[in-house]
Amino acid sequence: MSVNLRGRNFLSLMDFTRDEINYLLDLASDLKSKKRAGIRGNTLAGKNIALLFEKASTRTRCAFTVACNDEGAFPEFLSKNDIHLGAKEDVKDTARVLGRMFDGIEFRGFKQETVETLAKYSGVPVWNGLTDTDHPTQVLADFLTLRENFGKLQGLKLVYFGDGRNNMSNALMIGCAKMGIEYIICCPAELKPEKKLMDLCISIGGNIKIINDPVQAVIGADAIYTDVWVSMGEENLKEERYKLLAPWQVNKNLFNLTGKSSTIFLHCLPAVKGAEVTEEVFEAGYSKVFDEAENRMHTIKAVMVATLGA
Ligand code: CP
Ligand code: NVA
Repeated sequence: MSVNLRGRNFLSLMDFTRDEINYLLDLASDLKSKKRAGIRGNTLAGKNIALLFEKASTRTRCAFTVACNDEGAFPEFLSKNDIHLGAKEDVKDTARVLGRMFDGIEFRGFKQETVETLAKYSGVPVWNGLTDTDHPTQVLADFLTLRENFGKLQGLKLVYFGDGRNNMSNALMIGCAKMGIEYIICCPAELKPEKKLMDLCISIGGNIKIINDPVQAVIGADAIYTDVWVSMGEENLKEERYKLLAPWQVNKNLFNLTGKSSTIFLHCLPAVKGAEVTEEVFEAGYSKVFDEAENRMHTIKAVMVATLGA
């Protein structure tokens, strides 16, 4: 089946089919091999890309910037302090202005509604670099890393520990449902995913369960995943979260309980070592977090090339 993503937005994996996601992963893998061989593409030559950031970022910002440079595009970083987005000017007006000048727009910030409004009014491809409720480019990098380690996605079991209702868990749940990966959320009852999203993921074929007990949850895991206990914008909840989530820390014991010697550790990063993951796990040979971080660049490049490339 031929896939053509030209002109599409990338707001959530919910909008993409399994074939389309596989196409993006194949393209990312190809671009990664080319980069390793010293071959740069020129598929975004002359394109101007706006990088809008309401929240901080290391990986996402750098991945978009380097990917633009590699493919001949010009990235322009705009933090919330640099432009009027949503403050003096409403988002739909900013969208229409940026769309007259730029060829593509990345947005990282608070509301999913903002990235949707940018997409609706700008007339150019818009890519979601993280919102309070989703982080789809991260999941592409996670899936590329899984494919590199297991040679497949379908049939794998991914167990997520921690805040089961944050952007990362939501995005993984959607991605796993799309790709046939079993997704276990191991979290306290207070932080379980929103029922509506979980039901939707199950209705599209997702094999998804919430298992509170870490010892039960990890059985058969191919990958154990965690994320920070306090996401950007929730800093005032730190004390309560650390108390609540302490039993859901990822440590070496869990890896001994999977029943598999091939289980890998994944984390979107940044990580707070000693909180959601021990230093021992983070630094272990089965921890693939820096492959995963590098893969942000190759997968983000694939998204831009597929939606905007020549
Ligand atoms: N994983 C991720 O999105 O990292 P940054 O916050 O550094 O972009
Ligand atoms: N859940 C985290 C992800 C960071 C990449 C946050 O939103 O801060």
